[in-house]
Amino acid sequence: MSTASHTEFNTEFLESLTHETPFFVFSKKRLTDNLKDFKKYFPSALIQYAMKANAEPEVLQTLFEAGSGFEVASVYELNMLKKIGVPADKIIYGTSVKPISHIKEFFEYGVDRFAFDSLPELEKIASVAPGSKVYVRVAVNDTGSVFRFSEKFGTSKDNIVPLLQRAKERGMDPIGISFHVGSQASNPMSWANAITSIQPAIEHLHKLDIKLDVLNIGGGYPCAYGTTETALTLEEIAEHTLPQYEKLPYQPKLILEPGRGIVATTAVLVTSVIGRVERQGATWLFLDAGVYSALFEAMAYQGSTRYKVTSMRHSYDSGEMLFALAGPTGDSPDVITREALLPQDLEVGDKLIFHDAGAYSLVATSPFNGFPRPAVYFV
Ligand SMILES: Cc1ncc(COP(=O)(O)O)c(C=O)c1O
Repeated sequence: MSTASHTEFNTEFLESLTHETPFFVFSKKRLTDNLKDFKKYFPSALIQYAMKANAEPEVLQTLFEAGSGFEVASVYELNMLKKIGVPADKIIYGTSVKPISHIKEFFEYGVDRFAFDSLPELEKIASVAPGSKVYVRVAVNDTGSVFRFSEKFGTSKDNIVPLLQRAKERGMDPIGISFHVGSQASNPMSWANAITSIQPAIEHLHKLDIKLDVLNIGGGYPCAYGTTETALTLEEIAEHTLPQYEKLPYQPKLILEPGRGIVATTAVLVTSVIGRVERQGATWLFLDAGVYSALFEAMAYQGSTRYKVTSMRHSYDSGEMLFALAGPTGDSPDVITREALLPQDLEVGDKLIFHDAGAYSLVATSPFNGFPRPAVYFV
């Protein structure tokens, strides 16, 4: 995945924008470059962009035109894809616990690939989407990832065989297995280890004459957010994952569902300072966007995504100091960070840029305290 300093987003360019803050600027080129990277390092895989990470119509359109498929989480997301004409065969319904009415609507649109992770969920799918293709989601080791899913989703690996057998008995087409190593993963072995953990089940199924069409290795591909942070590269993830995949008795088609890895680096958020105060030994800058209106993942208990933040005005001659950055609402969790290193003399009206802000930001805004979601521009 391409990293933070993009020529598309250099300061001169951002300074030339006269839009009222706060606003996001996205690079379409960056989107298609990131998609290309996935295709480069996983050449035989199907890429199903997890649109929950960012569902801006232009993001969806750009990725669709560049050949991406989509991993979809609800009828509401499906409707967005229908609007831009994405055909059913480009879509998988990847949440493993779903409202039955949503399953039905996906099926009516022609989508025929559904995740499940329990017997009741299989029964739901069988009842309203008969004969569909189903793949079982398994819980895997997700330690080291910032957002962990295995508590909430995925069956134990011992249930893979009985669940897929049951699917066959119910007249469904048991096509595969999926897992998610957790979002913003830090262990390059996570995907390889997950494949190792399900290899016995794949071998067992093979003996039972159930040959899988797909192995869905999910998302998790991280972004280097903070100034000092490094993140795994796709190259090193592929280097560990693909040899393990090759060790399977046969090679089902690989599916990847990147969300963050496709969109995180494609956008910056431009905000303005609306207040500067000294409080409890810290200097606080209040901004016109915060965790509710733009930067949900920066909220402490959401995993504290530490965005790189820079000042638009070059006033580093005055020296730098640590600031706490807060959003504009009257709520205490609306704190973006307590340690942003920025020019000392920042004041009301100065603009700050949050980098790599494309993922899980706009999709998670709320009009709390009345602040609207920031405007969105594309270059
Ligand atoms: C089923 C599924 N696939 C893919 C993703 C995307 O994950 P990431 O953004 O870490 O790539 C998610 C994220 O929640 C998910 O739930």
